[in-house]
Amino acid sequence: MDISKEITQALNDQISLEAGASQYYLATACWCEVSGYEGAAAYFYTQSDEERMHMLKIIKFLNSLGISAKVSAVPGPNIRHKSLEDALKASLKNEQAVTVAIHKALTLAHKKSDYSTFELLEWFAAEQVHEETKFEAILQKFDTIGRDGLAVAEIDRILASQAGTC
Ligand SMILES: [Fe+2]
Ligand SMILES: [Fe+2]
Repeated sequence: MDISKEITQALNDQISLEAGASQYYLATACWCEVSGYEGAAAYFYTQSDEERMHMLKIIKFLNSLGISAKVSAVPGPNIRHKSLEDALKASLKNEQAVTVAIHKALTLAHKKSDYSTFELLEWFAAEQVHEETKFEAILQKFDTIGRDGLAVAEIDRILASQAGTC
């Protein structure tokens, strides 16, 4: 089956975005680990693995069509978190940017009547809802539990409990 050059480009761009997200979460996990947030570190390591799976999902889709996926260099993420809340806010922002890219690619697939790519990207659109909701829910905990040392430690514990399942 043939897909257009434009769609191939959009999917290759998405591969880079997912790879970038994986590296960003990996760097954030490192930041958490050295900042004393072991629970959040475990959570972000899992999140990094998940983004790598997303990247592979698109790579395998392209390869299954006989189009060799493009694996590009990913710029190192610039991590400047000042607090755990800050790290989670930056993560939500990152996910929102990925959602915009997915929606743009979906619009393109629709325009090109490329329904196999559309179906692949629909999965990603649903996944983005899940990702954004997850970060919004944990960010809400800072309002409900608080921002002092004990509250943040509790949020770190909550993140630990979600580490294997995100
Ligand atoms: Fe992703
Ligand atoms: Fe994500």
